[in-house]
Amino acid sequence: MRIEQPVNIADLRRAALQRLPWIIGDWLDGGSEDERAVRRNLAQFERFRLVPRYLVDITGASTGTSLFGRGYACPFGIAPTGYPCIFRPQGDLLLARAAAAADIPFIMSGAATATVEAVGAAAPDHAWFQLYAAKDEGITRDMIARAVAAGRPALVVTVDVPADPKRERDIRNGFDMPPPMGPRLVLDGLVHPQWTWRYLAAGGLPTMANWAPYAPKGMDAVGVARFASDKFHATLSWRHVEAFRAQWPGTLILKGIMDAGDARRAAEAGVDGLIVSNHGGRQGDRLPAALEVVPRILDAAPNLTVMMDGGIRRGADIVTALALGARFVFVGRATLFGLATAGQAGVAHAIAILKDEMLVTMRQIGRPTIASLGPDAVLTT
Ligand SMILES: Cc1cc2nc3c(=O)[nH]c(=O)nc-3n(C[C@H](O)[C@H](O)[C@H](O)COP(=O)(O)O)c2cc1C
Repeated sequence: MRIEQPVNIADLRRAALQRLPWIIGDWLDGGSEDERAVRRNLAQFERFRLVPRYLVDITGASTGTSLFGRGYACPFGIAPTGYPCIFRPQGDLLLARAAAAADIPFIMSGAATATVEAVGAAAPDHAWFQLYAAKDEGITRDMIARAVAAGRPALVVTVDVPADPKRERDIRNGFDMPPPMGPRLVLDGLVHPQWTWRYLAAGGLPTMANWAPYAPKGMDAVGVARFASDKFHATLSWRHVEAFRAQWPGTLILKGIMDAGDARRAAEAGVDGLIVSNHGGRQGDRLPAALEVVPRILDAAPNLTVMMDGGIRRGADIVTALALGARFVFVGRATLFGLATAGQAGVAHAIAILKDEMLVTMRQIGRPTIASLGPDAVLTT
Protein backbone atom coordinates (compact mmCIF):
# COMPACT_ATOMS: atom_id res chain seq x y z
CA MET A 1 0.00 0.00 0.00
CA ARG A 2 1.50 3.31 -1.02
CA ILE A 3 0.30 5.54 1.74
CA GLU A 4 2.53 7.34 4.17
CA GLN A 5 1.83 5.87 7.58
CA PRO A 6 -1.88 6.54 7.86
CA VAL A 7 -2.09 5.99 11.59
CA ASN A 8 -5.70 7.06 11.86
CA ILE A 9 -8.71 8.00 9.76
CA ALA A 10 -7.66 11.69 9.79
CA ASP A 11 -4.38 10.67 8.09
CA LEU A 12 -6.33 8.66 5.52
CA ARG A 13 -8.57 11.66 4.89
CA ARG A 14 -5.55 13.88 4.21
CA ALA A 15 -4.03 11.26 1.92
CA ALA A 16 -7.33 10.86 0.04
CA LEU A 17 -7.85 14.59 -0.43
CA GLN A 18 -4.27 14.95 -1.75
CA ARG A 19 -4.91 12.28 -4.36
CA LEU A 20 -8.34 13.35 -5.60
CA PRO A 21 -9.13 16.24 -7.91
CA TRP A 22 -10.31 19.06 -5.63
CA ILE A 23 -13.85 19.11 -6.90
CA ILE A 24 -14.21 15.37 -6.20
CA GLY A 25 -12.58 15.73 -2.78
CA ASP A 26 -15.10 18.49 -2.04
CA TRP A 27 -17.99 16.23 -3.05
CA LEU A 28 -16.66 13.48 -0.76
CA ASP A 29 -15.83 15.61 2.25
CA GLY A 30 -18.48 18.30 2.10
CA GLY A 31 -22.11 18.66 3.09
CA SER A 32 -25.02 21.00 2.61
CA GLU A 33 -25.23 24.77 3.23
CA ASP A 34 -23.00 25.84 6.17
CA GLU A 35 -21.95 22.21 6.80
CA ARG A 36 -23.17 22.46 10.40
CA ALA A 37 -24.59 18.95 10.24
CA VAL A 38 -21.21 17.63 9.06
CA ARG A 39 -19.49 19.33 11.99
CA ARG A 40 -22.28 18.31 14.40
CA ASN A 41 -21.76 14.68 13.43
CA LEU A 42 -18.11 14.92 14.46
CA ALA A 43 -18.77 17.09 17.53
CA GLN A 44 -21.47 14.79 18.94
CA PHE A 45 -18.82 12.35 20.08
CA GLU A 46 -17.00 15.06 22.05
CA ARG A 47 -19.96 15.25 24.45
CA PHE A 48 -19.25 11.81 25.86
CA ARG A 49 -16.47 10.28 27.91
CA LEU A 50 -15.99 6.62 28.71
CA VAL A 51 -15.61 5.61 32.35
CA PRO A 52 -13.02 2.87 32.89
CA ARG A 53 -13.49 -0.23 34.98
CA TYR A 54 -10.22 -1.79 36.07
CA LEU A 55 -9.14 -5.19 37.42
CA VAL A 56 -11.21 -6.87 34.73
CA ASP A 57 -10.02 -9.87 32.71
CA ILE A 58 -9.62 -8.45 29.21
CA THR A 59 -7.53 -11.24 27.71
CA GLY A 60 -10.26 -12.40 25.34
CA ALA A 61 -11.34 -8.93 24.19
CA SER A 62 -13.33 -9.16 20.97
CA THR A 63 -15.31 -6.91 18.66
CA GLY A 64 -17.37 -9.88 17.41
CA THR A 65 -21.12 -9.43 17.46
CA SER A 66 -24.31 -10.67 15.87
CA LEU A 67 -26.90 -8.84 13.82
CA PHE A 68 -30.09 -10.15 12.25
CA GLY A 69 -29.22 -13.67 13.20
CA ARG A 70 -25.66 -13.92 11.97
CA GLY A 71 -22.22 -13.18 13.36
CA TYR A 72 -19.88 -10.41 12.18
CA ALA A 73 -16.27 -9.67 13.13
CA CYS A 74 -17.12 -6.09 14.10
CA PRO A 75 -20.18 -4.08 15.11
CA PHE A 76 -19.74 -1.75 12.15
CA GLY A 77 -20.25 -1.94 8.41
CA ILE A 78 -19.77 0.19 5.31
CA ALA A 79 -22.60 2.66 4.61
CA PRO A 80 -24.01 3.01 1.09
CA THR A 81 -22.24 5.65 -0.96
CA GLY A 82 -23.18 6.51 -4.51
CA TYR A 83 -20.76 6.58 -7.41
CA PRO A 84 -17.68 5.23 -5.59
CA CYS A 85 -15.97 4.54 -8.93
CA ILE A 86 -15.24 8.24 -9.04
CA PHE A 87 -12.74 7.68 -6.23
CA ARG A 88 -11.27 4.46 -7.67
CA PRO A 89 -12.32 2.43 -10.71
CA GLN A 90 -14.42 -0.56 -9.58
CA GLY A 91 -14.97 1.23 -6.26
CA ASP A 92 -18.17 -0.67 -5.38
CA LEU A 93 -16.47 -4.02 -5.89
CA LEU A 94 -13.35 -2.99 -3.94
CA LEU A 95 -15.49 -1.89 -0.99
CA ALA A 96 -17.53 -5.10 -1.18
CA ARG A 97 -14.45 -7.33 -1.28
CA ALA A 98 -12.75 -5.50 1.58
CA ALA A 99 -15.91 -5.82 3.69
CA ALA A 100 -16.24 -9.54 2.95
CA ALA A 101 -12.56 -10.13 3.79
CA ALA A 102 -13.02 -8.30 7.10
CA ASP A 103 -16.34 -10.09 7.75
CA ILE A 104 -18.42 -6.92 8.04
CA PRO A 105 -21.51 -5.88 6.04
CA PHE A 106 -21.28 -3.62 3.01
CA ILE A 107 -24.34 -1.74 1.82
CA MET A 108 -24.30 -1.29 -1.93
CA SER A 109 -25.72 2.13 -2.90
CA GLY A 110 -28.81 2.59 -5.03
CA ALA A 111 -26.60 4.96 -7.04
CA ALA A 112 -23.84 2.40 -7.46
CA THR A 113 -21.60 2.03 -10.45
CA ALA A 114 -21.87 -1.77 -10.40
CA THR A 115 -24.88 -4.04 -10.66
CA VAL A 116 -26.46 -5.77 -7.70
CA GLU A 117 -25.57 -9.06 -9.38
CA ALA A 118 -21.85 -8.16 -9.61
CA VAL A 119 -21.66 -6.83 -6.05
CA GLY A 120 -23.54 -9.89 -4.80
CA ALA A 121 -21.00 -12.14 -6.50
CA ALA A 122 -18.10 -10.14 -4.99
CA ALA A 123 -19.46 -10.38 -1.44
CA PRO A 124 -22.12 -13.13 -1.38
CA ASP A 125 -22.69 -13.12 2.38
CA HIS A 126 -21.89 -9.49 3.16
CA ALA A 127 -23.43 -7.20 0.54
CA TRP A 128 -26.77 -5.61 1.34
CA PHE A 129 -28.73 -3.56 -1.18
CA GLN A 130 -29.79 0.06 -0.64
CA LEU A 131 -32.76 1.19 -2.66
CA TYR A 132 -33.33 4.63 -4.10
CA ALA A 133 -36.90 4.03 -5.12
CA ALA A 134 -37.96 5.20 -8.58
CA LYS A 135 -41.04 7.24 -9.46
CA ASP A 136 -41.81 4.47 -11.92
CA GLU A 137 -42.90 1.70 -9.58
CA GLY A 138 -42.14 -0.91 -12.22
CA ILE A 139 -38.43 0.03 -11.99
CA THR A 140 -38.48 -0.16 -8.20
CA ARG A 141 -40.20 -3.53 -8.21
CA ASP A 142 -37.70 -4.85 -10.74
CA MET A 143 -34.73 -3.61 -8.70
CA ILE A 144 -36.08 -5.34 -5.60
CA ALA A 145 -36.77 -8.51 -7.58
CA ARG A 146 -33.18 -8.47 -8.87
CA ALA A 147 -31.84 -8.02 -5.34
CA VAL A 148 -33.98 -10.99 -4.21
CA ALA A 149 -32.73 -13.10 -7.13
CA ALA A 150 -29.14 -12.05 -6.35
CA GLY A 151 -29.65 -13.43 -2.83
CA ARG A 152 -29.05 -10.18 -0.93
CA PRO A 153 -29.81 -10.65 2.77
CA ALA A 154 -30.99 -7.11 3.59
CA LEU A 155 -32.77 -4.27 1.80
CA VAL A 156 -32.03 -0.75 3.06
CA VAL A 157 -34.52 1.91 1.94
CA THR A 158 -33.09 5.42 2.19
CA VAL A 159 -35.92 7.78 3.12
CA ASP A 160 -34.08 11.02 3.90
CA VAL A 161 -33.85 12.46 0.39
CA PRO A 162 -37.18 14.26 -0.20
CA ALA A 163 -35.36 17.42 -1.33
CA ASP A 164 -32.32 18.10 -3.46
CA PRO A 165 -29.78 19.41 -0.97
CA LYS A 166 -27.96 22.72 -1.42
CA ARG A 167 -24.33 21.62 -1.41
CA GLU A 168 -22.55 24.88 -1.85
CA ARG A 169 -19.07 23.54 -2.57
CA ASP A 170 -20.51 21.57 -5.47
CA ILE A 171 -22.47 24.57 -6.74
CA ARG A 172 -19.35 26.73 -6.70
CA ASN A 173 -17.30 23.99 -8.33
CA GLY A 174 -19.91 23.48 -11.04
CA PHE A 175 -19.96 19.86 -9.92
CA ASP A 176 -22.64 17.44 -10.98
CA MET A 177 -22.90 13.68 -10.78
CA PRO A 178 -21.30 12.34 -12.86
CA PRO A 179 -18.85 15.23 -13.15
CA PRO A 180 -18.90 16.91 -16.54
CA MET A 181 -15.49 16.77 -18.22
CA GLY A 182 -15.09 20.56 -18.31
CA PRO A 183 -11.88 22.64 -18.19
CA ARG A 184 -11.97 22.71 -14.40
CA LEU A 185 -11.83 18.91 -14.05
CA VAL A 186 -9.21 18.69 -16.80
CA LEU A 187 -6.98 21.19 -14.96
CA ASP A 188 -7.70 19.44 -11.66
CA GLY A 189 -6.82 16.16 -13.38
CA LEU A 190 -3.45 17.48 -14.55
CA VAL A 191 -2.56 18.29 -10.96
CA HIS A 192 -3.64 14.77 -9.88
CA PRO A 193 -2.17 12.66 -12.70
CA GLN A 194 -2.47 9.29 -10.93
CA TRP A 195 -6.20 9.73 -10.49
CA THR A 196 -6.52 10.94 -14.08
CA TRP A 197 -4.49 8.06 -15.45
CA ARG A 198 -6.58 5.48 -13.58
CA TYR A 199 -9.79 7.21 -14.57
CA LEU A 200 -8.90 7.28 -18.28
CA ALA A 201 -7.50 3.72 -18.20
CA ALA A 202 -10.84 2.55 -16.77
CA GLY A 203 -12.66 4.09 -19.73
CA GLY A 204 -13.63 7.49 -18.31
CA LEU A 205 -16.98 8.25 -16.72
CA PRO A 206 -18.42 5.18 -15.02
CA THR A 207 -22.06 4.34 -15.65
CA MET A 208 -24.63 3.76 -12.91
CA ALA A 209 -24.76 0.15 -14.01
CA ASN A 210 -27.66 -0.91 -11.82
CA TRP A 211 -29.89 1.75 -13.38
CA ALA A 212 -28.60 1.33 -16.93
CA PRO A 213 -31.08 -1.47 -17.88
CA TYR A 214 -34.00 0.95 -17.33
CA ALA A 215 -32.55 3.81 -19.38
CA PRO A 216 -33.07 4.04 -23.15
CA LYS A 217 -30.66 1.75 -24.96
CA GLY A 218 -27.28 3.21 -25.93
CA MET A 219 -27.35 6.05 -23.37
CA ASP A 220 -23.92 7.17 -22.15
CA ALA A 221 -22.88 7.51 -18.49
CA VAL A 222 -24.07 11.11 -18.20
CA GLY A 223 -27.38 10.18 -19.80
CA VAL A 224 -27.95 7.25 -17.41
CA ALA A 225 -27.13 9.42 -14.38
CA ARG A 226 -29.58 12.12 -15.55
CA PHE A 227 -32.18 9.47 -16.29
CA ALA A 228 -31.76 8.02 -12.78
CA SER A 229 -31.89 11.38 -11.03
CA ASP A 230 -35.04 12.31 -13.00
CA LYS A 231 -36.60 9.07 -11.85
CA PHE A 232 -35.57 9.23 -8.18
CA HIS A 233 -38.69 9.16 -6.07
CA ALA A 234 -38.78 12.18 -3.77
CA THR A 235 -42.26 11.49 -2.39
CA LEU A 236 -42.11 8.06 -0.84
CA SER A 237 -44.89 7.25 1.59
CA TRP A 238 -45.67 4.55 4.14
CA ARG A 239 -47.73 2.86 1.44
CA HIS A 240 -44.47 2.29 -0.44
CA VAL A 241 -42.77 0.90 2.67
CA GLU A 242 -45.67 -1.55 3.05
CA ALA A 243 -45.25 -2.57 -0.59
CA PHE A 244 -41.51 -3.13 -0.09
CA ARG A 245 -42.31 -5.22 2.99
CA ALA A 246 -44.72 -7.34 0.97
CA GLN A 247 -42.19 -7.91 -1.82
CA TRP A 248 -38.97 -8.27 0.19
CA PRO A 249 -38.60 -11.59 2.03
CA GLY A 250 -35.43 -10.71 3.96
CA THR A 251 -34.38 -8.09 6.47
CA LEU A 252 -35.93 -4.68 5.77
CA ILE A 253 -34.23 -1.53 7.08
CA LEU A 254 -35.14 2.16 6.78
CA LYS A 255 -32.18 4.55 6.64
CA GLY A 256 -32.52 8.16 7.73
CA ILE A 257 -35.32 7.87 10.32
CA MET A 258 -34.86 10.46 13.13
CA ASP A 259 -38.38 10.98 14.51
CA ALA A 260 -39.94 8.82 17.25
CA GLY A 261 -43.33 8.73 15.50
CA ASP A 262 -41.68 7.57 12.28
CA ALA A 263 -39.88 4.84 14.22
CA ARG A 264 -43.19 3.62 15.67
CA ARG A 265 -44.77 3.70 12.22
CA ALA A 266 -41.84 1.70 10.83
CA ALA A 267 -42.38 -0.98 13.47
CA GLU A 268 -46.09 -1.15 12.54
CA ALA A 269 -45.14 -1.52 8.87
CA GLY A 270 -43.11 -4.64 9.68
CA VAL A 271 -39.67 -3.08 9.24
CA ASP A 272 -36.86 -4.97 11.01
CA GLY A 273 -34.31 -2.24 11.62
CA LEU A 274 -33.50 1.47 11.36
CA ILE A 275 -30.29 3.26 10.54
CA VAL A 276 -30.62 6.57 12.35
CA SER A 277 -28.73 9.01 10.13
CA ASN A 278 -28.58 12.55 8.77
CA HIS A 279 -26.97 11.26 5.58
CA GLY A 280 -23.51 12.37 6.68
CA GLY A 281 -24.69 16.00 6.83
CA ARG A 282 -25.30 15.96 3.09
CA GLN A 283 -29.09 16.57 3.13
CA GLY A 284 -30.61 19.02 5.68
CA ASP A 285 -28.02 21.18 7.39
CA ARG A 286 -30.24 21.69 10.49
CA LEU A 287 -30.91 18.00 11.07
CA PRO A 288 -29.73 16.58 14.41
CA ALA A 289 -26.76 14.29 14.63
CA ALA A 290 -27.85 10.66 14.90
CA LEU A 291 -26.75 10.17 18.51
CA GLU A 292 -28.89 13.12 19.62
CA VAL A 293 -32.02 11.20 18.66
CA VAL A 294 -30.99 7.56 19.17
CA PRO A 295 -32.39 7.49 22.75
CA ARG A 296 -35.88 8.58 21.66
CA ILE A 297 -35.83 6.11 18.76
CA LEU A 298 -34.90 3.31 21.17
CA ASP A 299 -37.79 4.30 23.45
CA ALA A 300 -40.27 4.53 20.58
CA ALA A 301 -39.37 1.26 18.87
CA PRO A 302 -37.93 -1.12 21.44
CA ASN A 303 -38.43 -4.13 19.18
CA LEU A 304 -36.55 -2.73 16.20
CA THR A 305 -32.81 -3.11 15.65
CA VAL A 306 -31.59 0.46 15.96
CA MET A 307 -28.35 1.32 14.18
CA MET A 308 -26.75 4.68 13.37
CA ASP A 309 -24.22 6.41 11.18
CA GLY A 310 -22.52 9.79 10.80
CA GLY A 311 -19.22 11.22 11.97
CA ILE A 312 -17.48 8.01 12.98
CA ARG A 313 -13.74 8.54 12.67
CA ARG A 314 -12.46 6.61 15.72
CA GLY A 315 -12.98 3.18 17.21
CA ALA A 316 -13.93 4.98 20.42
CA ASP A 317 -16.81 6.65 18.54
CA ILE A 318 -18.18 3.20 17.75
CA VAL A 319 -17.76 2.08 21.38
CA THR A 320 -19.65 5.20 22.51
CA ALA A 321 -22.52 4.71 20.08
CA LEU A 322 -22.93 1.08 21.13
CA ALA A 323 -22.74 1.95 24.83
CA LEU A 324 -25.55 4.47 24.24
CA GLY A 325 -27.73 1.73 22.80
CA ALA A 326 -27.07 1.57 19.05
CA ARG A 327 -26.86 -2.05 18.02
CA PHE A 328 -24.53 -1.49 15.06
CA VAL A 329 -23.00 1.48 13.24
CA PHE A 330 -21.97 2.32 9.68
CA VAL A 331 -19.15 4.39 8.27
CA GLY A 332 -19.35 6.31 5.01
CA ARG A 333 -16.41 8.62 4.50
CA ALA A 334 -13.87 6.68 6.60
CA THR A 335 -13.75 3.75 4.19
CA LEU A 336 -14.04 6.06 1.16
CA PHE A 337 -10.89 7.86 2.36
CA GLY A 338 -9.20 4.45 2.33
CA LEU A 339 -10.62 3.64 -1.11
CA ALA A 340 -9.40 6.91 -2.64
CA THR A 341 -5.98 6.50 -1.06
CA ALA A 342 -5.13 2.89 -1.84
CA GLY A 343 -8.07 1.00 -3.34
CA GLN A 344 -9.11 -2.22 -1.61
CA ALA A 345 -5.99 -2.22 0.60
CA GLY A 346 -6.91 1.29 1.75
CA VAL A 347 -10.46 0.18 2.65
CA ALA A 348 -9.01 -2.77 4.56
CA HIS A 349 -6.67 -0.38 6.33
CA ALA A 350 -9.53 1.93 7.37
CA ILE A 351 -11.46 -1.07 8.75
CA ALA A 352 -8.37 -2.31 10.61
CA ILE A 353 -7.74 1.13 12.15
CA LEU A 354 -11.31 1.32 13.48
CA LYS A 355 -11.27 -2.27 14.74
CA ASP A 356 -7.89 -1.87 16.48
CA GLU A 357 -8.95 1.40 18.08
CA MET A 358 -12.13 -0.27 19.31
CA LEU A 359 -10.13 -3.04 20.95
CA VAL A 360 -7.75 -0.59 22.63
CA THR A 361 -10.70 1.40 23.97
CA MET A 362 -12.60 -1.70 25.15
CA ARG A 363 -9.54 -2.98 27.00
CA GLN A 364 -8.85 0.43 28.51
CA ILE A 365 -12.37 0.75 29.92
CA GLY A 366 -12.61 -2.88 31.04
CA ARG A 367 -15.47 -3.78 28.68
CA PRO A 368 -13.96 -6.61 26.67
CA THR A 369 -17.08 -7.67 24.77
CA ILE A 370 -19.80 -5.86 22.84
CA ALA A 371 -22.37 -7.23 25.31
CA SER A 372 -20.49 -5.56 28.19
CA LEU A 373 -20.99 -2.07 26.70
CA GLY A 374 -23.85 -0.19 28.31
CA PRO A 375 -24.93 3.34 29.24
CA ASP A 376 -23.15 3.09 32.60
CA ALA A 377 -19.88 3.25 30.63
CA VAL A 378 -20.72 6.73 29.34
CA LEU A 379 -20.37 10.05 31.11
CA THR A 380 -22.40 12.82 29.49
CA THR A 381 -22.38 16.54 29.88
C1 LIG B 1 -19.81 10.48 -1.16
C2 LIG B 1 -21.03 10.01 -0.42
C3 LIG B 1 -22.07 9.42 -1.13
C4 LIG B 1 -23.20 8.95 -0.45
N1 LIG B 1 -24.17 8.30 -1.17
C5 LIG B 1 -25.22 7.74 -0.50
C6 LIG B 1 -26.15 6.91 -1.20
O1 LIG B 1 -26.04 6.68 -2.39
N2 LIG B 1 -27.17 6.38 -0.47
C7 LIG B 1 -27.34 6.61 0.88
O2 LIG B 1 -28.29 6.11 1.48
N3 LIG B 1 -26.44 7.36 1.56
C8 LIG B 1 -25.38 7.92 0.91
N4 LIG B 1 -24.45 8.62 1.62
C9 LIG B 1 -24.58 8.75 3.09
C10 LIG B 1 -23.91 7.56 3.79
O3 LIG B 1 -24.61 6.36 3.58
C11 LIG B 1 -23.82 7.77 5.32
O4 LIG B 1 -25.11 8.06 5.82
C12 LIG B 1 -22.86 8.88 5.72
O5 LIG B 1 -21.74 8.92 4.86
C13 LIG B 1 -22.40 8.65 7.15
O6 LIG B 1 -21.57 9.70 7.59
P1 LIG B 1 -19.96 9.62 7.58
O7 LIG B 1 -19.55 9.83 6.17
O8 LIG B 1 -19.56 10.73 8.48
O9 LIG B 1 -19.56 8.25 8.10
C14 LIG B 1 -23.30 9.11 0.95
C15 LIG B 1 -22.25 9.70 1.66
C16 LIG B 1 -21.12 10.13 0.99
C17 LIG B 1 -19.99 10.74 1.79
